[in-house]
Order: sequence, then C-alpha cells, then structure tokens
Amino acid sequence: MYDVPSDIGPVDCDVLVTGGRGFIGSHLCRALAPSNDIVILDDGSSPAPAEQYHPDSVTVVDGDVRDEDVVNGLVADADIVFHEAAEVSVTRSVESPTDTHSVNVSGTLRVLEASREHGSRVVLASSCAIYGNSESLPIDESHPTEPKSPYGLEKLTIDHYAKLYNDLYDVPTVALRYFNVYGPSQSGGEYSGVISIFQDQAKEGGPITVEGDGGQTRDFVHVRDVIQANLRAATTEHVGESFNVGTGTETSILELAEAIQDHAATDPKIVHTDPREGDIARSCADITKSSDLLGYEPTIELESGLASLV
Ligand code: UD1
Repeated sequence: MYDVPSDIGPVDCDVLVTGGRGFIGSHLCRALAPSNDIVILDDGSSPAPAEQYHPDSVTVVDGDVRDEDVVNGLVADADIVFHEAAEVSVTRSVESPTDTHSVNVSGTLRVLEASREHGSRVVLASSCAIYGNSESLPIDESHPTEPKSPYGLEKLTIDHYAKLYNDLYDVPTVALRYFNVYGPSQSGGEYSGVISIFQDQAKEGGPITVEGDGGQTRDFVHVRDVIQANLRAATTEHVGESFNVGTGTETSILELAEAIQDHAATDPKIVHTDPREGDIARSCADITKSSDLLGYEPTIELESGLASLV
C-alpha cells in the first residue's frame, strides 16, 4: 500500500492518469490503484520502473495526449482525469518552445475538451514557474504571474484554461501549482530535476555542477506530499481553483549541493557553471490556501527526504 493517508482521495472511481509512467504519474497510480480502476495514457517518453504499477488494475495505453480520438475515448470512461503528461524541462522549453507548447498547451486543451464533452473532473499539473521572479516571499496564489520561460508561460496558460473551463463549461477542474518535486524514481539525465542530477553526480564521484553562484532558491516538495495534494484535489468541492503545492521552506541550490555532498560516500567536489537562461532567482510557496481549502499538509522535510533517497 502506498504510504499516504488512506482516508483521502477517490474510491471506486474510473481514473485516467495521463503521463502515468512518468515520475509523478507513476507514484499517483500506485497511490490510487488499491481502490480505483486506473488507465494510463503515456507515450513512453519518461519510463518509470515497472514495479511501481499495480499489476491487476492498471491498464497502460501507449499514445499521445494530443491525439483527439485516443483522448476522447479514454476520457469518456473516466470519472477523474489526473493530467500529468507534460514536457517538464524548463531548459528544453527555452531551446524548443514550439515543441513544448504543443505538448504542454495543446495536449492539455485536448484533455479539457474531452472532459467538457464527457463531464469528467480534471486535476492538472500547473507549476510555480508561472510566477516568474517573485516580488515577495512566500508566494501565494494571488502573486503576479510573469513567467521567465516558455515552460512557465505554457503552465500559466493551462492554469488559466482550467479555470476558464470551470467558469464557462462547468468542468470541475483543479490546478495544482507544483513547486520543485523530488523523490524516489525521478529519472536522471540532463533534463531532470536538480536533486536527481546532483545525486547522480555525487554517486559518480562528482563534480556537482551548480549553475551560477547557487544563491537561487527553490521550495523542494517530496513526491509523496504531491500525491497527497492530488488525492485531496480529486474530491474537493473547491473546483475552478489553483493551489500551491510546496512546503513553505526555501533552500538555496548551493545549500542543496552541500547537503548532497555531505550524504555522499564519494566526497564529490562542487563546481560552478554558467547560470541558466530563464532561471528563477527565488521561490518558496505560501501554502495557506492549500492547507485551508484542501486540507493539504506537507509531511516530509527536505533533510529526511534526501536521507531516504541516498
Ligand atoms: C522544475 C521542474 C519543472 C517545475 C519547476 C517548478 C524539472 C526538470 N523541472 O524546474 O517541471 O515546474 O521545477 O519550479 O524537474 N541546477 C543546477 N545544476 C544542475 C541542474 C540544475 O545548479 O545540474 C539549478 C538550476 O539552475 C535551477 C535549479 O537548480 O536554478 C533548479 O533547476 P531544475 O531542477 O531544473 O528545476 P526548475 O528549473 O525550477
């Protein structure tokens, strides 16, 4: 059984998880599987370890989230759609915005349209990247949005679409603005999240590559807490809303690199490379709204989350 409170989330529902083979989607399937019927739509671009799937009740459909016939057919049978399929790399969006726009915006619109037709609830993955450089910290949901990358703009667009589909067409939507998610089975590689990159680097003896001076900050949230937020969003009456999903704790990238260096058996060096184009300077969530309306409470502090990954 997945380690989230068993009294939250949907029960006996037909659930579609787009991107269900990816990092967050596969954790979500594992949490939902014991009490729901799950179908995954995934193009295989981010394979996750097979042992994360519940063998009996999960059906995997190999397909593209932009494919109208496939999405329509699957949404028709779903009470709830968790829309996690996305191109998650900010860097890739800066390199190739038409590609990431197509997956992140057109793919989401396809899911929303199908849900409009079939009356399914949609819980979708938005991002704190929509806020851009923060004017004040912590960042609450009414903070101005000024994305610094195509990725951030794409997530802002779908965040607005989610609300619009609720307002215009009564589609029950909830947008979850993920801060920086980490946890077991996050795939490595240059386009992955910084924690898995640093861990891979540390495992190989270093160096750990801090982009810029490392003074930029993030709010790192464990995937298990992200799953908790999704389960709560699946049953909340507060639809047509967006919620921050973070922890309220700000950590600099240099502090993170040092923490991973401390945990490593290999004594890796830390080196500094060029700062990243379109990077956000500081990020930290105000989770008051998620806590008040969804009942969301983060349970894993970064230190113990990192320790459990080593
Ligand atoms: C990440 C997510 C994005 C999510 C967003 C929310 C990934 C790939 N992207 O983007 O989907 O919506 O969080 O904020 O998970 N860094 C280094 N060295 C490295 C790699 C990264 O110093 O080798 C630094 C980057 O310059 C950046 C920070 O770490 O300042 C975080 O980078 P990354 O993990 O890619 O996350 P975001 O860009 O915040």
